[in-house]
Amino acid sequence: MGKTIIISNRLPVQLQISNESITAIPSVGGLATGMKSVHSGGDSLWIGWSGLTDEEIPQELAPKIDEALAEHGSSKVKLTSAEVDGFYYGFSNRTIWPLFHYFLEYSEFELASWDIYKKVNQKFADAILEKATDDDTIWVHDYQLMLVPQMVREKRPDISIGFFLHIPFPSYEIFRTMPWRKEVLSGLLGADLIGFHTYDYERHFLSSVRRLLGLDVSFNDIYLDDRTIKVDSFPMGIDYKKFSDAAKEHAQRSEEQKSELQKRLDTHKKSTPDAKFFLSIDRLDYSKGIAKRLNAFEYFLNKYPQYKEKVRLIILAVPSRSNVPQYQLLKKEIDELVGRINGELSTVSWTPIWYFYRSMPFENLIDLYTTCDIAWLTPIRDGMNLVAKEYIATRTDKTGVLILSEMAGSANEMNESILINPNNFEQIADALNQAITMPKAEQQNRNSILQKRLERYNVEKWANDFMTSLRNQKEGNTTYVSR
Ligand code: ADP
Ligand code: G6P
Repeated sequence: MGKTIIISNRLPVQLQISNESITAIPSVGGLATGMKSVHSGGDSLWIGWSGLTDEEIPQELAPKIDEALAEHGSSKVKLTSAEVDGFYYGFSNRTIWPLFHYFLEYSEFELASWDIYKKVNQKFADAILEKATDDDTIWVHDYQLMLVPQMVREKRPDISIGFFLHIPFPSYEIFRTMPWRKEVLSGLLGADLIGFHTYDYERHFLSSVRRLLGLDVSFNDIYLDDRTIKVDSFPMGIDYKKFSDAAKEHAQRSEEQKSELQKRLDTHKKSTPDAKFFLSIDRLDYSKGIAKRLNAFEYFLNKYPQYKEKVRLIILAVPSRSNVPQYQLLKKEIDELVGRINGELSTVSWTPIWYFYRSMPFENLIDLYTTCDIAWLTPIRDGMNLVAKEYIATRTDKTGVLILSEMAGSANEMNESILINPNNFEQIADALNQAITMPKAEQQNRNSILQKRLERYNVEKWANDFMTSLRNQKEGNTTYVSR
């Protein structure tokens, strides 16, 4: 049996060069954090972009870059800064990302960036073709590389190819607005198996294939020439053990072993013992609904003024895609909202919002997950949202309340959380009140059900289900994987 080649735009680490030395920093985002756990446990090679453009890599450092990536079982696809502009900041994040998240008005349809998207997808396909033998299994990830399956298939008709989309697949009415919709579908159909997080995304995809390509679709099989392509949903899990073990270890720490952040959180908790901390963690992305959440927080404090000086919202926003204008505007909007709300509501002893705009080490994520009483995650549209699952996994005493948007893919598996519509401020304010007043026993009941489910359907099971289904599909075996 051959190896698995994972291919995605982001590698598990991103390289940075300073003073002629190379540092590898962990990549943020559900794809990288999830696949990292799968990759570390198996015999796989991960191909992707190092995070540095060709122009940023001095010739003498090129071999060291390869060595640094090899330490993470990775190999790079070289991209020039013009390619990164057109492919990554351009077509991927100014066309597909907004369109697939239903932000139609943000989507730009430019022929030049589509041309670069095709060219760069070919580069990724060539990198696979260079490394793969016919026995290998190719696993292509996400919206940046939707043409790769077909590009590989053309050259290696018999190789096994799986594709997984980590973001929503929009309804036909939205998808059809893209000028290159047929080319994108045909690119994906080079795979033997196409996976989505939810049944709804799967259904939308099948509907687009039927209506735009006129192909024969039966249940979740697509018939194309002499091939059958299977489409299925595989909700991605987390490395449950990693998060619950980290939380257990965290609980054992002595005062000296605690991080500065944890000490600061403890001080505030001690000074107001009945205070509640709300936590929100996201990449700074318009799909995550951070600005709406801030407005909803203000609405909540007006509706329930008794919680003034009693609650605190901790917002951790990770810098993301900062060359794209919509992200720059959002950053400005959030800075202003935080400033205005804090300015209007703060008292001598109370700042309602603590806002961190940065990436944090894993240790600090655990500090926040384990200390905050309520996780408040309200994306306007989100393929999955792993943060919701990570929060629950760290609650070792089973207390804590999760308020989650019904627009997140993870809501399908997290019915025991408080599900809300991110546009309904009245409902959100009441949900926050419900969370604050929820009896401990009820919190523990809800969380023990959630934890059992998350522990069972972890990221390893997700990857195994996908791979088993791909193998079965390749062997012409229609056995369904029981989940
Ligand atoms: P997305 O993939 O859209 O960014 P997810 O919630 O699915 O959203 O995944 C985000 C991932 O990034 C999680 O695994 C989370 O632990 C990680 N992450 C989020 N915020 C930070 C941060 N500030 N520092 C480091 N990692 C983070
Ligand atoms: C989402 C996408 C990933 C992407 C991640 C971080 O999870 O599905 O493909 O890697 O966001 O975004 P970035 O643009 O930094 O790679």
